[in-house]
Amino acid sequence: MSHKLTLKKLQKMKGQEKIVMITAYDALFASLFDSYVDMILVGDSLNMSFSGKPDTISATIDQMIYHTQAVCSRVEQSFILFDMPFGTYSDKESALRNAVRVYQETEADAIKLEGGREKVEIIRHLSDNAIAVFGHIGLKPQSARSEGGYAIKGKSEAEKQEIIENALALEDAGAVALIIEGVKPDVAEAVTSRVSIPTIGIGAGVSCDGQVLVWSDMLGFFEEFMPKFVKQYMDGGALVREAVQNYAAEVKSGTFPDEAHTY
Ligand code: KIV
Repeated sequence: MSHKLTLKKLQKMKGQEKIVMITAYDALFASLFDSYVDMILVGDSLNMSFSGKPDTISATIDQMIYHTQAVCSRVEQSFILFDMPFGTYSDKESALRNAVRVYQETEADAIKLEGGREKVEIIRHLSDNAIAVFGHIGLKPQSARSEGGYAIKGKSEAEKQEIIENALALEDAGAVALIIEGVKPDVAEAVTSRVSIPTIGIGAGVSCDGQVLVWSDMLGFFEEFMPKFVKQYMDGGALVREAVQNYAAEVKSGTFPDEAHTY
């Protein structure tokens, strides 16, 4: 029997069981995460933590497909979400063309795109053409350059209402779930109670139906900056440095390889 988490099962988790999501960009880490999480997001954050770029803007659909194929190759249980990169869903036609490519060239279960009411027509078009779409509201990293940085959203009552209305509009257009990023917790709580689809938060407080973290942040490998919402469950950077330092010292001193590691 397949243990794969389907969209139907995922949607039934709303209000019943918290949803756990983590990002992954390669087969090795995806296979390590698969048994412990519900969902794996192949996020365009890979442009920063994998490719070393300053933001997510230059990620391409070819790169995202390549990494998603790698993730899909080793995942048996988790629901896989594909992050549509900047510029690949600016209008209905290109959004559908790119989303069809994602479905045909990977085994991703759904795609995610950033935006509010201005994306309603696009989401409806994708949904009408059998593509499962996650919305991404609140702080939208793909807007960082046009907005001049990464600011928390929903601080004023007007901004809070706008985010709630965007969430309702996306649900009405056919979005199957929402990512809520970088908002005050009362905003995420209000959205979660108003929509009937699951909400997954990142920097949005505890009231969402689930949580997502970027793997290299929560395992301590990404050391350039750490937002307040990231909890580090491991100091990966320190562990790797120590291991590589030991390896280098043993090679230099001639103690590696020893007899146990020689044919
Ligand atoms: O690209 C990504 O990792 C994301 C998360 C921040 C939700 O979109």
